[in-house]
Amino acid sequence: MSSENALANQLPTGLGGQLVKAERWLILTGAGVSADSGVPTFRDAQTGLWARYDAYSLATPAAFAENPALVWDWYQWRRRLIAAAKPNAGHQSIAELAALKPGLTLVTQNVDGLHQRAGSPEVIEFHGNIGRSKCFDCGTVATSIDEPDRRPPVCSICDGLLRPDVVWFGESISLPAIEAAYAAAERSEIFLAVGTSSLVYPAAGLAEVAADAGALIVELNLDQTPMSALADHVLVGPAALWLPTIAACVREAVS
Ligand code: OAD
Repeated sequence: MSSENALANQLPTGLGGQLVKAERWLILTGAGVSADSGVPTFRDAQTGLWARYDAYSLATPAAFAENPALVWDWYQWRRRLIAAAKPNAGHQSIAELAALKPGLTLVTQNVDGLHQRAGSPEVIEFHGNIGRSKCFDCGTVATSIDEPDRRPPVCSICDGLLRPDVVWFGESISLPAIEAAYAAAERSEIFLAVGTSSLVYPAAGLAEVAADAGALIVELNLDQTPMSALADHVLVGPAALWLPTIAACVREAVS
């Protein structure tokens, strides 16, 4: 019996039917959905060369201003790590669910672009995308990088330094992304949080808005989080195992 079928029988009673019936889903993902692709979660200890740096001390505008080459190198290390990673069954299942449920909205806190590589058509990226670079001074997103070996390269518009197009600590998330995510939460019937510690707002606030809108709240995680108490169902285990089960349950109902 495949792992999907085995787990399909383990979905909490009634959840399968509610998933099949609901059209408007909001899925919020965090680093845990990419952990099964070998991408360290944000609160994992940094490994290897970067073990001595704390991610929180690198992912800030001040850190970049103080030592742009160090911060650029750290992101280049993460970019190489992510380029070597592949979307896992969890990412692929979310992409399949988007095809099965046209009313599905996907919000991710991840910057790795693995949802897009798995085929998810629309991804609201709360924290940007490590694959893009933008100018630290004028904010222009770089479409090409003239001197890729410079650390960091410079902006082709204003000669400012390029930085990763991700949200750093102390920076705000794009308003359109927040508005789209909260609008989806207000009309959601299913809210599924996958692999997030639910510690960082405004992403962590979406569950409460969905719950107030009467959505069924489902948390998929290895551990308890501050959101667990709000959840109607908590699926404990790896995202790469549970998400194919959820996709199989919906697929079987529509086929
Ligand atoms: P965290 O590293 O805070 O949390 C990862 C969550 O995924 C934890 O709750 C783990 O238990 C869970 N997890 C780990 N492996 C899993 C697996 N295989 N299957 C399911 N769950 C798993 O990452 P985020 O919650 O994404 O913000 O962190 C949110 C934000 O905090 C990040 O986007 C970052 C950080 O500040 C910015 O960079 C602006």
